[in-house]
Amino acid sequence: MKICVIGSGYVGLVSGACFAELGNNVTCVDNKLNKINNLKNGVIPIYEPGLDELIIRNFEQKRLQFTTNISKSIKKADLIFICVGTPTKTKSNEADLKYVFQVVKIIKKNLNKYKIIITKSTVPVTTGDKIQRLLTTKTNKKLFEVVSNPEFLREGEAIRDFMFPDRVVVGTNSKKANNILKNLYSPIIKKKGIYFNTSRRAAEVIKYAANAFLATKITFINEISNLCEKLKVDVTDVSIGIGADERIGSRFLRAGPGYGGSCFPKDTRALVSTSKKFKTNLSIVNSTIHSNDNRYKYLLTRIKQILNNKLKSKKITFLGVTFKAGTDDMRDSASLKLIPYLVKKGSKVSYYEPTGIKNEFDKKKVFYFNNIKDACKNSDLLIIHTEWNEFKQLNFNWLNNKKKLKIYDLRNLYSPAKMKNKNIEYFSIGR
Ligand code: UDX
Repeated sequence: MKICVIGSGYVGLVSGACFAELGNNVTCVDNKLNKINNLKNGVIPIYEPGLDELIIRNFEQKRLQFTTNISKSIKKADLIFICVGTPTKTKSNEADLKYVFQVVKIIKKNLNKYKIIITKSTVPVTTGDKIQRLLTTKTNKKLFEVVSNPEFLREGEAIRDFMFPDRVVVGTNSKKANNILKNLYSPIIKKKGIYFNTSRRAAEVIKYAANAFLATKITFINEISNLCEKLKVDVTDVSIGIGADERIGSRFLRAGPGYGGSCFPKDTRALVSTSKKFKTNLSIVNSTIHSNDNRYKYLLTRIKQILNNKLKSKKITFLGVTFKAGTDDMRDSASLKLIPYLVKKGSKVSYYEPTGIKNEFDKKKVFYFNNIKDACKNSDLLIIHTEWNEFKQLNFNWLNNKKKLKIYDLRNLYSPAKMKNKNIEYFSIGR
């Protein structure tokens, strides 16, 4: 199949490179010339393990091209994947679809043969209907289908999630389009997972409902962890005990600093915004948003307790500041709320981050170190913020400076029992 992927960002590049890896002829389009030129030179604009070699290999095999010429790519293509950004509107919780509709207008001018237009970007429910209306003229009804094919890619695991999905969801009532998409995904479905065809709107709901449910599941265990701290119960035992029930499932039950990233915060808000439009109250998703937005306050209370309510002049070191391990993405990371507060209260905050220095922090007030040892020197409190492997076997002799080191482990990487034997006061989540 000749595939055109519009939008060479996170979803577009991963999807385009994986479709090429499966033997398709793929053109990734973007309106930023420098990004396209960099991609042609093997310079990949996003941090995603394994993506650079996948792109370089398929580019060299000429299965994957990059261009800014959107009209030519659309004309050539059989399948057009819309992978442009759908950021949250500043004044509301709605997804901003301006980029999507800009692309649709260009597609409309280039419908030279039958094409399937597929939304892979996360778009609000009924967007497919709007796109269909925008594209339709008196003469071109049979020249296209608009299909929803949401992605379920986690940052840091995107290639694996694409190549080994639990399910491929394709929203269309067109038998022809469904057969073409089923054929496109057949090499992946053979390995694992299911191919699920449903209506276009149902596919759009599935994307939002999946993310909202996962965000709710995480928030649920985070709140249970607060209770566990009061009851002196280990929340990781509770996660195991309930997760063993197949109706619950053991994944996404790790208590932590709250969810962040480019999807859960955005998609939960967009889903609530859609529900309001259709006069439906999603009270549970609303509670999830509220609970997660306020989780940092609970963590700050614990930090104050750990430091005997003395934050001023205390040296606090963060290990990791991104929203999770395996990514360089800072969007909605808990550190963006924790660190500015601590600095404002007079703490001296330093951090080590595997993906490098972050511009989100004022370099004059928050100090980046390119190694763990220097970052932790003379620390009063070490906060393990993300679960990078390099944080799982810390050399505590290194870290044990003159002061009695305290560790607040937001990812429960260590066992409290083992930490008792070292000259370290160890605190964690839900334990
Ligand atoms: C998520 C969805 O998983 C993915 O299917 C969707 O396509 C995009 O959004 P992503 O945001 O990249 O992926 O990361 P994910 O691994 O889902 O983690 C999201 C947040 O939840 C992170 O802040 C992570 O630290 C947190 N999390 C995840 C927990 O706190 N506990 C868990 O058990 C799992």
